[in-house]
Amino acid sequence: MAQKVTKAVLPIAGLGTRFLPATKSMPKEMMTLVDRPLIQYAMDEAREAGITDFILITARGKGSLVDYFDRAPELEASLEEKGKTELLKQLAHTDMPSGAISTIRQQQALGLGHAVWCARRLIGDEPFAVILPDDVIAGDTACLKQMVDAHEQTGGCMVAAMEVDASETSKYGILDVEPGDGAAVRVKAMVEKPDSHEAPSNLAVIGRYILTPEVLKILDSQDTGKGGEIQLTDAIAQQIGSEKGVWGYKFDGQRFDCGSKPGFLQATVAYGLRRPDLRDDLAAYIKTLGPQELG
Ligand code: G1P
Repeated sequence: MAQKVTKAVLPIAGLGTRFLPATKSMPKEMMTLVDRPLIQYAMDEAREAGITDFILITARGKGSLVDYFDRAPELEASLEEKGKTELLKQLAHTDMPSGAISTIRQQQALGLGHAVWCARRLIGDEPFAVILPDDVIAGDTACLKQMVDAHEQTGGCMVAAMEVDASETSKYGILDVEPGDGAAVRVKAMVEKPDSHEAPSNLAVIGRYILTPEVLKILDSQDTGKGGEIQLTDAIAQQIGSEKGVWGYKFDGQRFDCGSKPGFLQATVAYGLRRPDLRDDLAAYIKTLGPQELG
């Protein structure tokens, strides 16, 4: 059985330029889906998967992300005094045990591979998860939990995988896999953001990974790849021939690309409809939409 995964790296150093001007003075991971910021969805998913140690790879101007998971004694006292127990319960979601969150500054934007490599001293010699909070995945069982369970059997490296439209391969890491019926399939090759005519398939890497410490060693000397950046995909690809290899995991769940405006809007509607307190009003509004709005 593979070693237990207890640490997760969350690369959140990006500038979020696609959401300017909103992200001029606010990290994009603080943008809210309904009433919780994107980072909270990622942390909740990690906790459901049994992660106890969270390593945030941040950058200048991202301080509010760290504040978000700190205690807020004045606010808590005021809510308590007013007897607002429901709100206090909501706030409890942001409670993290002392020492559970570490932050590391990625001083230069050199790519996703570099961001993950920045965590190497805190990871040590054990498998770890990587979560990209832009990818929000709704489902009955958290995507990372599904992967952690599968990884106990496979070991090695594992990436979340999902079929995308053939025209979209240039937005993703793309996998070439061995045939197989199960959710976990062996990866034969992986390539970062290929044009559709060069892509080996339309099976894309989605932002959940379980990686071996060997990947960090590879990243020590990883050359730049696509876009002149140090790519995580390239480092993982070098593990394909290793004993335990690399696995794609076809997760159960609906993924939203919250790094894009259409994806963010879709997620807002989907999560709104999943909320018992909002569902009826939102559904009633959607039903009023006709040719004038949708036309
Ligand atoms: C990153 C990875 C890519 C992966 C994607 C998933 O790209 O480099 O391989 O498919 O995340 O969201 P990014 O979206 O950061 O450009």
